[in-house]
Amino acid sequence: MTEDGGESSELDRIVQNIVSVLESEDSKIYSEEVIAEFRDPANVGSVADADGVGIADGLCNDTMEITLKFDGDRIARCMFFTDGCGATVACGSKLTKIAIGKTVEEALEIEPEYLAGLLGGLPDDHKHCTSLAVIALKNALRNYVKRRKEKEGGEP
Ligand code: FES
Repeated sequence: MTEDGGESSELDRIVQNIVSVLESEDSKIYSEEVIAEFRDPANVGSVADADGVGIADGLCNDTMEITLKFDGDRIARCMFFTDGCGATVACGSKLTKIAIGKTVEEALEIEPEYLAGLLGGLPDDHKHCTSLAVIALKNALRNYVKRRKEKEGGEP
């Protein structure tokens, strides 16, 4: 192995050690579900040509945006983007997964407590992360309904 290769593998080992420590610390705070969603989040980004867009601002100054695309009366695509914490990423991932396939009415029934339950619970100081995600989804749904009404009202 070259000298560079040796330095590289040493660096890899150090990085892996840091990751292991962080993961063991996270596992004391967060549920397995939260860690799994955070490590491999689904539906990150923005839906192109979205039918509905919603943004929520948290008291912690974090934000989340959710974009929706409908197929008929059901959500066909749902994506999120956040500058928030790891728990918020987990919330956005889980929430967008469960929103897909739902009607507006069904998706509006999703509450932060339900999302928290699906994630195996969240620490007290991160419970608001579920609200941030759910409010962003509800704002996107309202935006979709408003746009649909405007479109219908504008037709002859
Ligand atoms: Fe602010 Fe998670 S949304 S800490």
